[in-house]
Amino acid sequence: MPETAFINGRFLPLAEASVSIEDRGFQFGDGVYEVIRTYGGRPFKLEAHLARLNRSAEAIGLRQPYPIERWSGYITEGLRLAGFPESKIYVQITRGAAPRDHAYAPDLEPTVVMTIRELRPITSGLQAAGVAAMTVEDIRWGRCDIKSVNLLANVLARQQAKQAGVFEAILVKNGEVTEGSVSNVMLVENRTLITAPEGSHILSGVTREVVLALARQEGLEIKERYPSQAQLYGASEVFLTGTTVEVLGVIRIDGKPIGDGEPGPVTRSLAKRFLQQTG
Ligand code: PDD
Repeated sequence: MPETAFINGRFLPLAEASVSIEDRGFQFGDGVYEVIRTYGGRPFKLEAHLARLNRSAEAIGLRQPYPIERWSGYITEGLRLAGFPESKIYVQITRGAAPRDHAYAPDLEPTVVMTIRELRPITSGLQAAGVAAMTVEDIRWGRCDIKSVNLLANVLARQQAKQAGVFEAILVKNGEVTEGSVSNVMLVENRTLITAPEGSHILSGVTREVVLALARQEGLEIKERYPSQAQLYGASEVFLTGTTVEVLGVIRIDGKPIGDGEPGPVTRSLAKRFLQQTG
């Protein structure tokens, strides 16, 4: 089975998988998710992703149907069935299917879905060259720490970036940089790394955590506070972190070059060290 799906305990080919049109994930975006990737065929930081899935589910009062060990078993089985060299694992839990009503019954059976597709990693060319980004107003809700499937504001921001021909939309709320539409954002000023603090305005990225630990090991000072938009333009380096982007240099924002206009030494060093500890 190449592209593989999982619905409520059953594996099937992705093309044959479907859920009810009354699913609350479909009708209300009432659900949570995770995106996990493999390195060397093994899921990277699986425990951290599953712990965040639990936190997200708990935050919206959603019953997490499987304990972590059971999730690990399903993921291992899914990877085996799909058989890709490297996979992108998408896990989603929604509140279940019911006649449309904003309020829900407490005993709904959650819908659990997983898909396993072949991973298309960021190319080494893009890694080496870095990417352009644009700033977009952050119009999201007040609980961005919950990895909710309700991603409309992220979708619109990302589409704006795509239409502008740049890689990522960097979200700015009241003049302060929160994160990217699908990534966390970090700035370098001299030997200081600045990134938005954990809290309700950002998703606390699994990659963010790993990269902050590497940065500490490198002797960088870490400041977890919101950079201003002016600081963003004036930084010597800016980079993105995330499951799909790893550590990716940003060389231009809103048409203005960042630093020397190429991925800087801190970005390159952290990107290299990040890859070294994925194996
Ligand atoms: N998104 N911030 C946002 C808004 C994100 O959507 C993501 C990841 C991150 C980075 O988190 P992590 O390092 O745990 O992947 C930060 C995934 C990849 C997605 O929605 O596809």
